[in-house]
Amino acid sequence: MAHEVRAVVATAKGEPVRVETISVPDPGRGEALVRVQACGVCHTDLHYREGGINDDFPFLLGHEAAGIVEAVGDDVTDIAPGDFVVLNWRAVCGECRACKRGRPHLCFATHNATQKMTLDGVELSPALGIGAFAEKTLVAAGQATKVDPAARPEAVGLLGCGVMAGLGAAINTGQVGPADTVAVFGCGGVGDAAIAGARIAGARTIIAVDLDARKLELASSFGATHTVDASQVDPVEAIRELTGGFGADIVVEAVGNPKVFEQAFHARDLAGTVVQVGVPNPEMRIDIPMIDFFGRGGALKPSWYGDCLPSRDFPLYTDLYLQGRLDLDAFVSETIPLDGVEEAFHKMERGEVLRSVVVIEGSA
Ligand SMILES: NC(=O)c1ccc[n+]([C@@H]2O[C@H](COP(=O)([O-])OP(=O)(O)OC[C@H]3O[C@@H](n4cnc5c(N)ncnc54)[C@H](O)[C@@H]3O)[C@@H](O)[C@H]2O)c1
Ligand SMILES: [Zn+2]
Ligand SMILES: [Zn+2]
Repeated sequence: MAHEVRAVVATAKGEPVRVETISVPDPGRGEALVRVQACGVCHTDLHYREGGINDDFPFLLGHEAAGIVEAVGDDVTDIAPGDFVVLNWRAVCGECRACKRGRPHLCFATHNATQKMTLDGVELSPALGIGAFAEKTLVAAGQATKVDPAARPEAVGLLGCGVMAGLGAAINTGQVGPADTVAVFGCGGVGDAAIAGARIAGARTIIAVDLDARKLELASSFGATHTVDASQVDPVEAIRELTGGFGADIVVEAVGNPKVFEQAFHARDLAGTVVQVGVPNPEMRIDIPMIDFFGRGGALKPSWYGDCLPSRDFPLYTDLYLQGRLDLDAFVSETIPLDGVEEAFHKMERGEVLRSVVVIEGSA
């Protein structure tokens, strides 16, 4: 039996998103049907609707979600109906080259649902293989990670993408430790999570960089020890000044902009690390003197999903949240209904929110 549910669809490049009734199949082998309770609006959803990721319209948007497992297909053993889960876009295969080398967080063949959700018979492309701005969605069972049901869905759902990407950019990819100086460019949901991660990891100095004073104020509340308004001063110079003239040990780029990447590159100390978590579009190029790449040493590391392993990291950060050591609630700027996503994109562009979170009525 297919389920007819309301969902947010992007039908064409740059067109406003619409709430449509889509068809979601019952779970087949290895799949799970999840009743979505909450789903955050991530900048990556906007990248999809702008055609910046690929042209596989129509997209079913939404991918930072928590909900309740409603049904599972054959051969699903890790989750059962009634479980509280956070959805992930890294259901590792266990069999690819990366998994076999003991690096499942780099899995090259992650699982998604095999069956397709459809709109008027047309197959939808779910954002990041999830598609959770919907009353129900169909995922691979490995995409649903059980966490402590005491957690608030609006808050822990954000671990499903942006907040995990930021935490992991600092903790997993950047390997921030207690003596480190850290700078984070871009203080949206992802950058602020990198700041929170650097604080959890015990960084000594955490410098937040943004063009928007409101964002810098929020960054301080997540743990930034210093702020730099890049609309007023040269951020590379400012970071050098704040780090004894040297530059930061780890610089996180959480904007997705080649100019910012170059600033991050030059704001590093010798042998420092740049972690790039902002998503570029296919036209972007970076121009860095090769002699500087070589001469300064260190590492330039892209960070997909904060190099997280959902089965390890989602329960961990949910516990830190429930213990009051990671304020996931502070990322939730507002809760909105399904038909508020287009307006939420505009609020994101105007810099008014960290995360607007869709809450599906009657799903609790
Ligand atoms: N790598 C991953 O796994 C992953 C996961 C989720 C999101 N992302 C990406 O991370 C990026 C940030 O996402 P978000 O949801 O936090 O977006 P956001 O729009 O909420 O935040 C971006 C921030 O960057 C600031 N900014 C813009 N230009 C700047 C500049 N020149 N210098 C300094 N700051 C600048 C903005 O003012 C804003 O505060 C996006 O590109 C998103 O697609 C990556
Ligand atoms: Zn794999
Ligand atoms: Zn995202």
